[in-house]
Amino acid sequence: MPTAVIAAENLVKAYKVKGKPDFVAVDGLSFDVAPGESFGLLGPNGAGKSTTMKMIGAVSTRTSGGLSILGLDPDQYGPEIRSRLGVVPQQDNLDGELNARENLYIYGRYFGLSSKACHEKADELLAFAALEDKAKSKVDALSGGMKRRLTIARGLINDPRILLLDEPTTGLDPQARHVLWDRLFRLKERGTTLVLTTHYMDEAEQLCDRLVVVDKGRIMAEGTPASLIREHSSREVLEVRFGSDRNQQVAGNLEGIGDRVEVLPDRVLIYTDSGERALERVVAGGLEPITSLVRRSSLEDVFLRLTGRSLIE
Ligand SMILES: Nc1ncnc2c1ncn2[C@@H]1O[C@H](COP(=O)(O)OP(=O)(O)O)[C@@H](O)[C@H]1O
Ligand SMILES: [Mg+2]
Repeated sequence: MPTAVIAAENLVKAYKVKGKPDFVAVDGLSFDVAPGESFGLLGPNGAGKSTTMKMIGAVSTRTSGGLSILGLDPDQYGPEIRSRLGVVPQQDNLDGELNARENLYIYGRYFGLSSKACHEKADELLAFAALEDKAKSKVDALSGGMKRRLTIARGLINDPRILLLDEPTTGLDPQARHVLWDRLFRLKERGTTLVLTTHYMDEAEQLCDRLVVVDKGRIMAEGTPASLIREHSSREVLEVRFGSDRNQQVAGNLEGIGDRVEVLPDRVLIYTDSGERALERVVAGGLEPITSLVRRSSLEDVFLRLTGRSLIE
């Protein structure tokens, strides 16, 4: 295995909180990211994803543990690391008063590129982000998806080997998300190492070669999307709805159908190898669900299994 471009060993971040004990937001994370890999941190709000990304990006210091980025310790080599990373923060921090092209140009200058190189790079990246016709538009006038693509373009201005993306598509509509995913696939194909956080299981399944499932600052599981599903869930899931007041009541009669039954407020999930066969058994047992749906297991099921909660509350 090639040398890891990111290595975290028992990484801890405790925030000082006035008048209270320190708050441990990241509680001993250990993981490696290989060159060219697309690596994800999947977890709900508050899991410690942004805190971890800020430590990787060398903009927040760790409390304890080991951290190496491109072979360098961020405590000693912050500027070197920052100059070699691309960063897409959770909150867009583009300059709304400037147009799209100016945002790229100025960022390039900030990285010390020559004026000529900045002009060339700006045009190349506007094309990559499919924003050529928005080059002269003020950032404030762009849609959420366009702003996100521009932030990614900006993060690429220094030809980084690693691009950090904190919740790249949160808040975007489905179409805008797909356009963005397409751009990230292209980066992946070119060999850029991607590290992304998300609380969307479909995003993690689409984009990540490998991921860690995090909750409350700890790693709950690690693997490829397929291996996590294989390990922690069944092949299929039967979702049945009996009405909000009956789901809980009926659940007892469903035990034994499938490997496991999970009752959510709005539906009951039956984990099984064959959803269709499970449904036959439900109906044969005299229960008539209002709706039923058979689907493949997803990372959402893995998260539910590991934590007893949904990814999105
Ligand atoms: N500067 C801070 N001071 C104190 N607590 C913080 C600070 N930043 C984040 N937290 C807390 O740390 C936890 C993890 O936050 P964060 O890393 O932003 O999670 P995520 O990105 O997974 O939603 C949350 O409970 C959050 O409230
Ligand atoms: Mg966050």
